[in-house]
Amino acid sequence: MASNVNRVALIGTGFVGSSYAFALLNQGVTEELVLIDLNKEKSEGDAMDLNHGLAFAPSPTKIWYGGYEDCNDADIVVICAGANQKPGETRLDLVAKNVKIFKTIVTDVMASGFDGIFIVATNPVDILTYAVWKYSGLPQSRVIGSGTILDTARFRYLLGEHFKVDTRNVHAYIIGEHGDTELPVWSHADIGGVPILETMTEEQEKLDEIFVNVRDAAYHIINRKGATYYGIAMGLVRLTKAILHNEHSILTVSCHLAGEYGEDDVYIGVPAIVNRNGIQRVVELRLNEQEKKQFAYSANVLKETMFPFFE
Ligand code: LAC
Repeated sequence: MASNVNRVALIGTGFVGSSYAFALLNQGVTEELVLIDLNKEKSEGDAMDLNHGLAFAPSPTKIWYGGYEDCNDADIVVICAGANQKPGETRLDLVAKNVKIFKTIVTDVMASGFDGIFIVATNPVDILTYAVWKYSGLPQSRVIGSGTILDTARFRYLLGEHFKVDTRNVHAYIIGEHGDTELPVWSHADIGGVPILETMTEEQEKLDEIFVNVRDAAYHIINRKGATYYGIAMGLVRLTKAILHNEHSILTVSCHLAGEYGEDDVYIGVPAIVNRNGIQRVVELRLNEQEKKQFAYSANVLKETMFPFFE
């Protein structure tokens, strides 16, 4: 059971995991961080390297390389382990490989007596979050995927650039699969309270181009540098902070739907209230007819892809 000290256990210290650890330390979000990875040497090196930066961090964080037994006292277990996309691969192409890896990881975490919240980042994140929920037996509110938290951030960034407004004043969501079938919710996008739809007529092409750049961003980055990791790492820290600081923030994360948005028994990116208990509640936007169709299609692609693994 978690002690009264905030502890995060990170499984997988590859590009995403180590970037997450670095960002977590620099934002002073947790008091303890344990690194778990098959590559002991690399993770021990990461722990040493991060500890040497503690003098510059906003608050003390105890960091060490540990084992699954350290998950027992963790409030949150973050899984970044698994194979990642190579150029030309879609996220869904990774499903068979990573579902297998996850079965072992989740079994080992639960054997420690872990009773906290899982955050899943590995792709295909919606299906792997479903896998963690199934394999762990934890309530769906305590198994959360990064979902479209990064896609939404990309969307707000590009809209802010286009309209020359601070990203933080752009309110817009990307929902659905974290992947090729995700969709923009234009019907609820505004800048400082002014609906973007009102300006869409003359800029429809440009705004559609913005969405395509969001949806395909990872491919463009992977083609240039081989992987993406800073943006997702910061999104994972944002989610970790909302939990540990009991923020009740609305974030577009991968949640289990039980009827919301007309879908059942699927993990998919939707806005949800996140607090100390995990998912407090799914926020159900009133989608227009086109958005409803796109969302249903996205949910269906996820269900069809995961069916062989969980029938
Ligand atoms: C991306 C990875 C996290 O979208 O799927 O950059």
